[in-house]
Amino acid sequence: MAKTRSVFLCQECGYKTTKWLGKCPQCGEWNSFVEEVESPADTAVSVHDTPGTGPIAIDKVEYSESSRFSTGIGEFDRAMGGIVPGQAVLLSGEPGIGKSTLLLQTAASLSVGRKVFYINGEESNAQVKSRAARLGIKTAGLYLLNDNNLEHVVSQIDTHKPDILFADSLQTLYSPRYASLPGSVLQVRESAHELISLSKGLGIPLFLVSHITKGGDIAGPKIVEHLVDTVLYIETDSRGYYRILRSLKNRFFSTDEVGFFTMGESGLTGIEDISTAFTSIHSGEVSGVAIFPMIEGNRVFPVEIQGLCTASQFNYPRRAADGIDLNRLSMLAAIMEKKLGANLSASDVYVNITGGLKIEDPALDLAVIFAVYSSLKNKPSALDTIVFGEAGLTGEVRPVFRMEKRLQESKRLGFKRAVIPFQQKGIKPPDGLSVLPVKSIEEGIALL
Ligand SMILES: Nc1ncnc2c1ncn2[C@@H]1O[C@H](COP(=O)(O)OP(=O)(O)OP(=O)(O)O)[C@@H](O)[C@H]1O
Ligand SMILES: [Mg+2]
Repeated sequence: MAKTRSVFLCQECGYKTTKWLGKCPQCGEWNSFVEEVESPADTAVSVHDTPGTGPIAIDKVEYSESSRFSTGIGEFDRAMGGIVPGQAVLLSGEPGIGKSTLLLQTAASLSVGRKVFYINGEESNAQVKSRAARLGIKTAGLYLLNDNNLEHVVSQIDTHKPDILFADSLQTLYSPRYASLPGSVLQVRESAHELISLSKGLGIPLFLVSHITKGGDIAGPKIVEHLVDTVLYIETDSRGYYRILRSLKNRFFSTDEVGFFTMGESGLTGIEDISTAFTSIHSGEVSGVAIFPMIEGNRVFPVEIQGLCTASQFNYPRRAADGIDLNRLSMLAAIMEKKLGANLSASDVYVNITGGLKIEDPALDLAVIFAVYSSLKNKPSALDTIVFGEAGLTGEVRPVFRMEKRLQESKRLGFKRAVIPFQQKGIKPPDGLSVLPVKSIEEGIALL
């Protein structure tokens, strides 16, 4: 039996040392070293070593853009631009968010006319089958492989040569050549490396599920994120109704696009049209509302911002925000006091983003100010108007990114007016949408 030895591995970058260190000399991370046991005789040997082909002139390399193919799930394709042969994709997200559901749906969709392997180390075949039954999945091309041993998995893949490979999850796989437990830095790195080099060698796409840490980062060494071509992250809104699929990295497609889904009894359903998902239907006039043109990837959709001001019963008035940063709301309230003479020091201020979205785009500032001011003054809100612009501490309204796209889509969605930052008044609006450029929040509020 090979002799084992203890090493310390940085969980961030995989840097190896024989002594524990407080700070990683490679990536600079503090407290990232974890002790692992490895067998030195085996470390140099890969389970699956693909033979090198030697140098080849770049113009002799065969490649075709048409080799890209669809997952058959529209919103998945939208987020990652379809699949390229040999592409390694890592899917991560909070426990219970729907990683296995999305992966099983994708595997089933891809298994029509293809042999798809689904390595389910986390659940039994019966559990996966029961989920498949709930999701209404029946396909003959989908094969379950309930095994955690990397060597068995590799030999099965070598023998059966599937067309696509799924593994749920990376943290349950282990190589018997290492004494450390599944999920440890060494095992995660090894499993990722083996499966990726195997799938690249065979030219087949690989989808890996990965857990995340308490801090929300992908569990395991950072090197795994470098090894894969695409990193996808699935998250939810504050109410857990929607699932939003983002790509944090993609070597073959833009990372701007996102996919929207709802989670239900029959799994994840893509939402093609999200233009009404984040607004309410109001009968008649309403105050305390502003409509913000949110942009995600190439999609613009209106989001309703609600503000409420009430006389405060407390010594310190309350500020509560659902969907925006509370510090940002406090700052905007302070700017409103100073620049608009709004008496907010005696008012509790609540802000809510309809539909439970969390928005970090600073272009939202002006819409928040509109909603709060409209509630404070009981002035009806203009629901045919979109409002956007970043607010500065001196009350100035600053430019926002992707203005043209926001205007075009807002027009298409039926909005009539747009309150925009003055500095961007040169941008030609689409016919039928009138733009109202404002230099400051005072000018903006005058249009309310
Ligand atoms: N019978 C059911 N009806 C409706 N929704 C269900 C049902 N069973 C599970 N779900 C939904 O599926 C979610 C679990 O999905 P899934 O197992 O795909 O998540 P996961 O991200 O793979 O979780 P884990 O990290 O634990 O593996 C649940 O949180 C729930 O929302
Ligand atoms: Mg799962």
